[in-house]
Amino acid sequence: MKKIVFLTGAGMSAESGISTFRDSDGLWEHYDVMKVASIEGWYDDPELVQQFYNERRAQLDQVQPNEGHRIIAELEKDFQVSVVTQNVDNLHERAGSTHVVHLHGELTKVCNESKTDVIDIGTRPVQKGEKAKDGSRLRPFIVWFGEAVPLISDATQLVAAADIVVIVGTSMQVYPAAGLINYTRPHTPIFLIDPAQVSVGTHVTIIREKASRGMEILREELKNL
Ligand code: APR
Repeated sequence: MKKIVFLTGAGMSAESGISTFRDSDGLWEHYDVMKVASIEGWYDDPELVQQFYNERRAQLDQVQPNEGHRIIAELEKDFQVSVVTQNVDNLHERAGSTHVVHLHGELTKVCNESKTDVIDIGTRPVQKGEKAKDGSRLRPFIVWFGEAVPLISDATQLVAAADIVVIVGTSMQVYPAAGLINYTRPHTPIFLIDPAQVSVGTHVTIIREKASRGMEILREELKNL
């Protein structure tokens, strides 16, 4: 079976009702990214950060995977599919995808300050003052600005071994995720699904649609490869 790797970002979940970050009316217009999504922000005001992620977790209960997530999961019948996502929601898994690498962490998990003890909490809020087993503060299991991205080497290997790469709904502005495309082998077909213009290299087939419609088109294109 051919290996297909999806690189997904916030636009993948937009039709499910989760806001993107950098579009107009996106999350970073309403919140100061450095206050709620950086390691410095966590040290300055952990309560504000917990509140932000408690809200995101609560929202996850209200949303469902969309057709785009479902088509990616269905493609496992015909391809060896890996999803490398910058998203912290669990909509790929809930749609049925079985191999998902969460580069920027997972909303449904929390951990101790050193990130060595990871706990699944589902969508419940973290209470003020909750501690991990080692006595440190419980924190969201999220990769913030200013932190290492531990799964980037797994993602790089997947992209380097891919027969087909598909980018869906990311502005490709945040590194190291945005650099993954540079690890594709020469002549590997690359598709990009996004309703807006995103700057990527030249040999990329652009499908200028939202994720769900774009994935329907991609499913047809894949039959011709
Ligand atoms: N379908 C597909 N793409 C869409 C849709 C949609 N329905 N709606 C918007 N988009 C596209 C936008 O055009 C944009 O290119 O999704 C992209 C979203 O870009 P960003 O908001 O920058 O999100 P993302 O690239 O995932 O951000 C990367 O930034 O703040 C961090 O950690 C956060 O993981 C996040 C990272």
